[in-house]
Amino acid sequence: MSSAVESVLVEKRVFQPFKALVEQANISGMDAYRALCDEAEKSPDEFWSRLARENLLWDKPFSTVLDESDAPFYKWFSDGELNVSANCLDKHLDTPTADKTAIIFESDDGKVTKITYRELHARVCEFANGIKSLGYKAGERAIIYLPMSIEAVVAMQACARLGIVHSVVFGGFSARSLNDRIVDVGATLVITADEQLRGGRAIPLKPAVDEAFGMGGCDAIRHVIVYRRTGGTIDWTEGRDLWMHDLCQGQPTTCEAVPVNAEHPLFILYTSGSTGKPKGVQHASAGFLLWALLTTKWTFDAKDTDVYWCTADVGWVTGHTYITYGPLAAGLTQIVFEGVPTYPDAGRFWEMIQRHKVTVFYTAPTAIRSLTKAAETNADVHPRRYDLSSLRIIGSVGEPINPEAWMWYYTNVGGERCPVLDTWWQTETGGHMIAPLPGATPLKPGSCTLPLPGIVAGVVDEAGKDVEPGKGGFLAIKRPWPGMIRTVWGDPERFKSSYFPPELKGYYLAGDSAQRDTDGYFWIMGRVDDVLNVSGHRLGTMEVESALVSHPLVAEAAVVGRPDSTTGEAVVAFVVLKRDLPQGEEAVEIAKQLRDWVAHEIGPIAKPRDIRFGENLPKTRSGKIMRRLLRVVAKGEEVTQDVSTLENPAILNQLSQSV
Ligand code: PRX
Repeated sequence: MSSAVESVLVEKRVFQPFKALVEQANISGMDAYRALCDEAEKSPDEFWSRLARENLLWDKPFSTVLDESDAPFYKWFSDGELNVSANCLDKHLDTPTADKTAIIFESDDGKVTKITYRELHARVCEFANGIKSLGYKAGERAIIYLPMSIEAVVAMQACARLGIVHSVVFGGFSARSLNDRIVDVGATLVITADEQLRGGRAIPLKPAVDEAFGMGGCDAIRHVIVYRRTGGTIDWTEGRDLWMHDLCQGQPTTCEAVPVNAEHPLFILYTSGSTGKPKGVQHASAGFLLWALLTTKWTFDAKDTDVYWCTADVGWVTGHTYITYGPLAAGLTQIVFEGVPTYPDAGRFWEMIQRHKVTVFYTAPTAIRSLTKAAETNADVHPRRYDLSSLRIIGSVGEPINPEAWMWYYTNVGGERCPVLDTWWQTETGGHMIAPLPGATPLKPGSCTLPLPGIVAGVVDEAGKDVEPGKGGFLAIKRPWPGMIRTVWGDPERFKSSYFPPELKGYYLAGDSAQRDTDGYFWIMGRVDDVLNVSGHRLGTMEVESALVSHPLVAEAAVVGRPDSTTGEAVVAFVVLKRDLPQGEEAVEIAKQLRDWVAHEIGPIAKPRDIRFGENLPKTRSGKIMRRLLRVVAKGEEVTQDVSTLENPAILNQLSQSV
């Protein structure tokens, strides 16, 4: 950790908030920020109670705020009832927002479709009525495996309307990953599309669902609802498969929003951990919604006139919080984009910002870094070629944004007029946790700055004691907050052991290392566990290893991350085959087979960038794989550490050869 710590401490630049933003901000100036923090600190219950009453529509008001009786299984507003979809849609119907554009959808090939809040409400109601007509009830689980589309938002909102718990699976995940999630979550319904379009290519979705069913364990599924996106040829199982448009046909455009308990699960989203299969992060209805809405108002300084664009996919938490729920609850006009940043060329984002007059733009450092590279080699796709003057706020999420990328984003995209919001959070936190406020927080490139009001964050040692400023430690959240994970679906023990280790005094352990500087600013250093961050996507090394060893040729595999200037980290796999060491062309061929295998088992995002074959892996005499050394070898560096405990030091040489 120490070298990374050194590198951030030299960053001294500070950018004060822009006057124009401060003047009209929802939280205006540091005094207003501190006042909210003080209010939360003095009486957390009153603080959260006030915000929950002021921001949410309740069918039955709550009388308890935080119930800590079964910590760390915290409950929020637990005797209250509401409906999340009613809070995102119905609440706007008698206001001017009803006829405002809710979603500007742009397809991969550039076709634009707009839908108002009133129309979106009707679409959600029709679909919810359709699902209801099939006999589905609150509490059942639906898998959503859809491309970025209005239909994806409609599907999620329709589930929320009926109290059906959705579990969205990213369209880039394979049939195997889909099967794992269907089985683990105990789904009874699947909502998918025939195909998805990305970068001019059609990618099958419904066929992956059929393949997932063929893997077994999916007998509880009663229906597969299919959105016709491309009209591509697909197999059909009569009685089980239904077209979304047929199901919605003739359904009433109103549908009662089912009031659910505040703690009723809104969704389960799978994410990678350091061990075993991905875990189902369970979020609750009221607390999640409150945090999604508050952070949309605070961090993005949501304004009625905004054209907001979060480029994430609804398959990830960012798409849940900052596409499907937060912006709709806040009544924003937002862009939903089907395609990729590089199609038809790497100017796509900038051209869309110009054409739609986007005011708030939220994307990932990987996208920024790859578009920087593209702009440096092709002036036609450089952001300065476009009119980006509509922008007022630009944000970043998913991985550390290095100061160079921050400055490029600030200068070339933000035109030195827009604050760069580096937002730190996780699937488990439900929404932003440590992030600047555009009208208040002075910015430092590379720092996610300060905790949001109500969030008590710290950097602690193994015993939960605060470390000194400038020293690295574990990032911990010291008090519960409404948007937090409630449990790991079906595995409460894993929830406790992963996030609330006993030695940490009941703090939530984020799994990241961090340090604070003398101004209290947070600098995130990366994961402390065996979780990789590839292009902002979380990936467990164990998952990739299990995929590799399930290939008939593979005897053993170890996976580590290697720093990468575009994707943040790249997957490097060290593989021992059941046969002799392959050479030359043959090695290249087997490596390709293994990459395709991993893509098939998990999804293309997990494909190892680099595969190294060896006759063995570096192990201690007790048989433990020395990953620490593999990380050094993966970077192409000389091993200078002590290798005397190694059973087979010569193996390092062999593993340093790339295929
Ligand atoms: O390591 C942190 C990194 O992404 C992890 C969370 O990944 P996920 O649950 O997939 O959620 C991504 C979208 C919120 C964190 O543990 N991470 C996320 N945001 C940042 C970050 N690392 C540094 N800076 C950030 N702003």
